[in-house]
Amino acid sequence: MRVKLLGECLIAFRDTKGGLGLIEEFCAHRGVSLWFGRNEENGIRCPYHGWKYDVTGQCVDLPSEPEESGVRKGIRLKSYPAIECAGVIWAYLGPADKKPEEPAYEWTRVPPAHRYVSKRLQESNYLQAMEGALDSIHSGFLHRHSVADDPLLKRDPSSLAMLLADRHPKIVPTVSPAGLYVATRRDVGTDRYYWRVTQWLMPCFSFFPPYGDNPYGGHAFVPIDDGRCWTFSIDYHPGRALTGAEREAAHSGRGIHVPLIEGSFIPVANKRNDYLIDRAAQKAKKTFSGVLGVGVQDAAIQESMGTIQDRTREHLVSSDNGIVKTRRLLMDAASAVARGDAPPGLAPAAQGARAVSMVVPRQMSLPDAVAMAQKDPAKTVSAA
Ligand code: FES
Ligand SMILES: [Fe+2]
Repeated sequence: MRVKLLGECLIAFRDTKGGLGLIEEFCAHRGVSLWFGRNEENGIRCPYHGWKYDVTGQCVDLPSEPEESGVRKGIRLKSYPAIECAGVIWAYLGPADKKPEEPAYEWTRVPPAHRYVSKRLQESNYLQAMEGALDSIHSGFLHRHSVADDPLLKRDPSSLAMLLADRHPKIVPTVSPAGLYVATRRDVGTDRYYWRVTQWLMPCFSFFPPYGDNPYGGHAFVPIDDGRCWTFSIDYHPGRALTGAEREAAHSGRGIHVPLIEGSFIPVANKRNDYLIDRAAQKAKKTFSGVLGVGVQDAAIQESMGTIQDRTREHLVSSDNGIVKTRRLLMDAASAVARGDAPPGLAPAAQGARAVSMVVPRQMSLPDAVAMAQKDPAKTVSAA
């Protein structure tokens, strides 16, 4: 398969022994795309003149040169290590001596029956997509008429009542070991708070808390190039298998997932067909934006900002403080890496952070409430 990551054109293949290869796309001889290659006997053979490469990118056969010449040995395509984890192939594109441990996000550690993962193309810069995931205020507008009746995001009545009761939540971004958690605080009566805590795990993962016993959700935004990213969408539950109905809803593109054009990762509703906007549905308040489905709504709105939004023209306000903090942390991290420091977000313990929601007495501090809910979310998710 062709795979473009961080602007690099690569070929991913599985050799005949099952090994994963992620090597540069173009043959070292005269640049033919190895996408046309023959995948045979533990290597991929260029169809033009038959040079063959193994999963490490090493040329293992160069038919037109005598082996004694040593030319073959000196030919090696760039390659990256890849592993399979939680049904997803993960690649590491950094310096070999800084390779991190395997991913330890909670959804990667639960049994396969507890999770569902989908992938779609998003035609915007990854950061624009990720900022949408960290901006919980937009749910009350963009997704207003869609979330409550979605089978996968079906809210339990007590959460819904609390969400509706306070329409001016306070946003509290707090730096965490792997990034940031963005807590949204709503009043419950006069003595309690309903907190919803979204986790941002650097550099490109976001997880949001469940409503009652519905699945937890998350996204990974993986840059293809500056103007496009892969959006991976994840439903999982730490404590139980997903139900048949939840799995079916995800599979059919509901909830945070989107319906895809058969055999591709391209959404059926995309910018070339105006996301199948339905003005009558918008007028009738069936959808807020005229676009159907939470995932498609996010994609449509974020792509509409241009592939890279012109941030010199925006007007950030107090409810954007999570976004401001995210950008600052990212710029600090980029500077630190440029100075030679390790990138943040790689420690397995930090990656395990869970998005939580809880109702607690007002006097309980946010860090205490988060720590308590992470230990035992079942006791605190729905105490209204
Ligand atoms: S271009 Fe690949 S073998 Fe010649
Ligand atoms: Fe959204």
